Amino acid sequence: MKLDMQGIRMEFGPVTALHDVDFHVGPGEIHGLLGENGAGKTTLMNILSGTFPPTAGKIVIDGKEITGMTPQKSKEMKIRFIHQELNLCNDLKVYENMYLGEEITNKTGLVDKKAEIARAQEVLDGMGVKISATALVADLETAKKQLVEIAKALLFQSELIIMDEPTTALNNQEINNLFTIMRGLKEQDVSFIYISHKMPEIFTICDKYTVLRDGRFIETGLIRDIDEHQATELLIGKTFVNANLKELQEPCVGGEAVLTVEHLSGDTFEDVSFELHKGEVIAITGLQGAGSGELATALFGATPAKSGTVRTKKGALNTRSIKDVMRHGMAMVPCNRKERGILPDLSIRDNNSMSFFTLLHKKLLINNKEETARFEKNRAKLEIKVGSEKDPITSLSGGNQQKVIVGRWLETEAKILIMDNPTQGIDVGAKYSIYKLILELAAQGKSILVFSTEFPEIYQIADRCLVMYKGRISGILEREEMSEANVMALSTGSKTEVVK
Ligand SMILES: Nc1ncnc2c1ncn2[C@@H]1O[C@H](COP(=O)(O)OP(=O)(O)OP(=O)(O)O)[C@@H](O)[C@H]1O
Ligand SMILES: [Mg+2]
Repeated sequence: MKLDMQGIRMEFGPVTALHDVDFHVGPGEIHGLLGENGAGKTTLMNILSGTFPPTAGKIVIDGKEITGMTPQKSKEMKIRFIHQELNLCNDLKVYENMYLGEEITNKTGLVDKKAEIARAQEVLDGMGVKISATALVADLETAKKQLVEIAKALLFQSELIIMDEPTTALNNQEINNLFTIMRGLKEQDVSFIYISHKMPEIFTICDKYTVLRDGRFIETGLIRDIDEHQATELLIGKTFVNANLKELQEPCVGGEAVLTVEHLSGDTFEDVSFELHKGEVIAITGLQGAGSGELATALFGATPAKSGTVRTKKGALNTRSIKDVMRHGMAMVPCNRKERGILPDLSIRDNNSMSFFTLLHKKLLINNKEETARFEKNRAKLEIKVGSEKDPITSLSGGNQQKVIVGRWLETEAKILIMDNPTQGIDVGAKYSIYKLILELAAQGKSILVFSTEFPEIYQIADRCLVMYKGRISGILEREEMSEANVMALSTGSKTEVVK
């Protein structure tokens, strides 16, 4: 397919999300669409897939102008959109979700379940993932749900597949499988539009790039003509200094223990023991399935631990009760915004204030002025791009929603913060602001556990790094021992000595 979007303009009330943007994709091309949070990437794709019409501009496909694009029409034109946010019905089975609205029917007009299950399973198997087509979506973990979203797009013959941050929950193996499938389809002239904040992915899979900034077209070209640093500068619009923040700070040594975990075991992790000290940042990492994901939720009482103890200065903690965990001064930034984080019916400001209310609010009436001031503070710190704080949170771009959630917990009096992949979907510049905040909080004496799989991120913030392998701690690296090679060696259980 040859796609030409010309002079696309999009106004949401007073907000102009796109200013006369041009965007071209050729057949069999993987095109990276780059830009900061709120740059307009998802909006442009929503227009292409007919979610809403543009205020002005044209969509031309294979030389023909398409007017009145609708989701139905875009599907008929063999365009598929894998959304940034999960779009599945939890109450339905995997294959039912994949065929939703496009059921296979037999001669009598009834849904041919057998054919649907067989075809759905074929696609899932082809992706090299272990998901049963007849499983209930509610029973799947987030990564699997994301894979089902992708499978849904592969079910039908497509000519253009839009992927809006498809890999946020996937592990490296799953990402590699996805790339292999993409390359195979590219051979058959299928085109892709690939949106991601992870530069290494863009540079691995894309042929071309287009950069948007503040809703404006900035530049397009061949990926092989630029490097990651240049791309970053293009999208933030200024020189980017890749300083190491942690090096600028006093190291945290041997404060009092504020959290003691002893012999903690759950379904996928075993015998985990460590101490978190006052003012310390510990990063916990490991490959997918190493148990760190469940450890995070167990520490916050969202999934019950089987045995072991967690103590704070207030004594033993009942990890089965989220309320008790909060009473002990712990707070969590959960890893999955759409499923556990936002309250979609509330405004941006009220989402920002949420944890403050549950933990601290003793007054009955909400003081609008205070809430606005509280939000303003976070907006400035995290550079949240927003029209009005009273708008629903769902009017924000994906990354800006994530910033509101991270900001929410900075408002609590919590002494211990657990952050589960806090920078998921956040652009490079804003990631930096979040790292700075984490270090600031630590300097104020708060203690922070960050679950992360990105080494550069760990290196920016952590005093120590705890690595897991097959459910157990395979090693704890001190700051001086932290290197990508050491983390890798411990994550894969290889016997290689830790290099000091
Ligand atoms: N329904 C809406 N109502 C009002 N404003 C909106 C709506 N949808 C998007 N916007 C605004 O349009 C701008 C672009 O948002 P968009 O979701 O396209 O960003 P994005 O580039 O996809 O960012 P991210 O990387 O964070 O997902 C933002 O300022 C956003 O707040
Ligand atoms: Mg987006």
